[in-house]
Amino acid sequence: MPSLTDPFRIAGRTFENRLVLAPLAGIGNWFVRLQARRYGAGLAVSEMVSSFGLKYGDERTRREFLRIHPDEHPVSIQLFGHDAEAMRVAGSKVAEAGADLIDINMGCPVRKVVKTGAGASLLEEPDNAVAIARAAIEGSGLPVTVKLRSGQRPGERTGVELAHRLVEAGVAAISFHPRHASQQHKGAPDLALAAELVAELEAPVILSGGLSSDERAVAAFERTGAAAVMLARGSFGNPWRFARLLGRYEGEPSATEVARELEWVIDRGEEHLGVERAGRYLRKFYPWYADTLGLTKAERRELVEAPTTSDARRALEALAVPLAA
Ligand SMILES: Cc1cc2nc3c(=O)[nH]c(=O)nc-3n(C[C@H](O)[C@H](O)[C@H](O)COP(=O)(O)O)c2cc1C
Repeated sequence: MPSLTDPFRIAGRTFENRLVLAPLAGIGNWFVRLQARRYGAGLAVSEMVSSFGLKYGDERTRREFLRIHPDEHPVSIQLFGHDAEAMRVAGSKVAEAGADLIDINMGCPVRKVVKTGAGASLLEEPDNAVAIARAAIEGSGLPVTVKLRSGQRPGERTGVELAHRLVEAGVAAISFHPRHASQQHKGAPDLALAAELVAELEAPVILSGGLSSDERAVAAFERTGAAAVMLARGSFGNPWRFARLLGRYEGEPSATEVARELEWVIDRGEEHLGVERAGRYLRKFYPWYADTLGLTKAERRELVEAPTTSDARRALEALAVPLAA
């Protein structure tokens, strides 16, 4: 039985361990992926990027969404879209940007995405799903993986059926989130279904869903026999989880460590977006770090309401000193 610390392979490429940062829209940019890699993740997947945005978008769209830091490899860029030709062009741009893999989103249940025919709606359009995956493979020359749900609604297995077709068409691995699209991100993932897919599929399966604690991640990995597991919400403000699961870190980080790490995130955010945009963008990150710090409602207020990055830095300085004492 392999351990999370063992290497695994996708399409002949070796990844140093079996922990993956999940794709996270609006979050998984280069510095969040770099952070996961600094704490040991064997592979980091990007936030979903629109294939149309890459085909028709301006240079800034490409610079922001396809920015890859030299130290974050191996990295997978996740694309979404419903059109094979757009996916072919987007695939070539992702390859040019230096990604190691492409992942295609066929699981997103969000209305804005589904109503365009992308994300989870491809579960019901298997021919188009296969055409899209083939186009990404041909356009990029990279190994392509696909992230799937079990189906649209409870009781459906369209995701399992599509996984087999995709692999026959040349998809190198499947990331499987065994919840139905109608469940969004709630409810218990169907680990028995994931185990069935792992046993039957002729390609590695990376498990996603419900891995919110170290114990759950290990239990789901062992129960399903998946090649690797993806941390999503369980990694928010907590890159230490990667290191702990890999046996490189013990216990909880100190207040000073958490404060220094969030300062690193703020610095990178400013580098990426400029000071003003970073101030707005990073507001969603602060509550995660406040949770990791175990702050009460009153203690966290100044940080989570910080209007600018300098206010956030000041709040952190004030917090780290007394908490570290
Ligand atoms: C805020 C947020 C954004 C997400 N964005 C994406 C995305 O861009 N692409 C994708 O395939 N899944 C996305 N997901 C799904 C996650 O990758 C993961 O499959 C899901 O959160 C289940 O894992 P968890 O229960 O461990 O959080 C997102 C989830 C959340 C909470």
